[in-house]
Amino acid sequence: MATTTAPAREARTGPPSILLKTVMAVTGLVGIAYLLIHMYGNLMILVGPEAFDEYAHHIRTFGEPMLPEKGLLWIIRVALLASLVLHVWAAATMWHRANAARSQRYVMTRRGYGNFYAKAMRWGGLAILTFIIFHLLHFTTQTVTIGEAHASPAARVLDTFSHWWGVLIYLAAMIFLGLHLLHGFWGAAMTMGLNSSLKRAEQIRFASILVTTIIVVGFMIPPFAILFGLLD
Ligand code: HEM
Repeated sequence: MATTTAPAREARTGPPSILLKTVMAVTGLVGIAYLLIHMYGNLMILVGPEAFDEYAHHIRTFGEPMLPEKGLLWIIRVALLASLVLHVWAAATMWHRANAARSQRYVMTRRGYGNFYAKAMRWGGLAILTFIIFHLLHFTTQTVTIGEAHASPAARVLDTFSHWWGVLIYLAAMIFLGLHLLHGFWGAAMTMGLNSSLKRAEQIRFASILVTTIIVVGFMIPPFAILFGLLD
């Protein structure tokens, strides 16, 4: 019985896997940088609704008159969308490749531990993609509302999280995001070859737990503070 781990013939067409993994690592890190900034911005609501709206306004007018109104915002939006599209494309290509390899030849190494993480990353990634679409329809376009529609971004946030089910939806999304980041950060470091020693591997594991905790806890502080009436 053949036990080779070589990819199937059709799996070898298209970009090399290391390129796809590098694209995933770089675009994933762009996403993490954005999440840290977004989370920091959200924490402004603890200072007060005015501080939050001031921050939202500042992002729209930053760089004026050198940039047009919302100039920076559009630069960020385009960069983020490009990162997201590349990240999903690389993931989908690798997913397809893994399926093609499995249907060609049964490879023992595809069973067990590694395969669990691969599946969790793919299905969790799809859940996060669904959340991002929902999130834009909710806070940016207000096509979907939890509570009422508001002109002020702070009022939208305060209304949403005074509903327990609003908090629950965002909590569920943050749990998916946390699991994805935990393994994704680790995977990105592996791709970049940073695990040169056992000590290094431990440091990477620690860094991935730290970054994930900061993002998840930081994002969930405002919703819980609002739900428990701490901001009144
Ligand atoms: C508890 C968690 C979160 C809260 C309370 C929150 C809140 C918000 C709010 C209020 C806006 C609209 C800002 C404005 O109108 O000025 C926004 C926009 C946005 N959020 Fe979040 N967010 C959360 C998590 C996330 C996560 C996890 C992601 C990405 C995976 C994300 C991605 C975005 C994006 C892409 C925009 C659109 C920015 C734009 O182009 O205007 N958010 N968020």
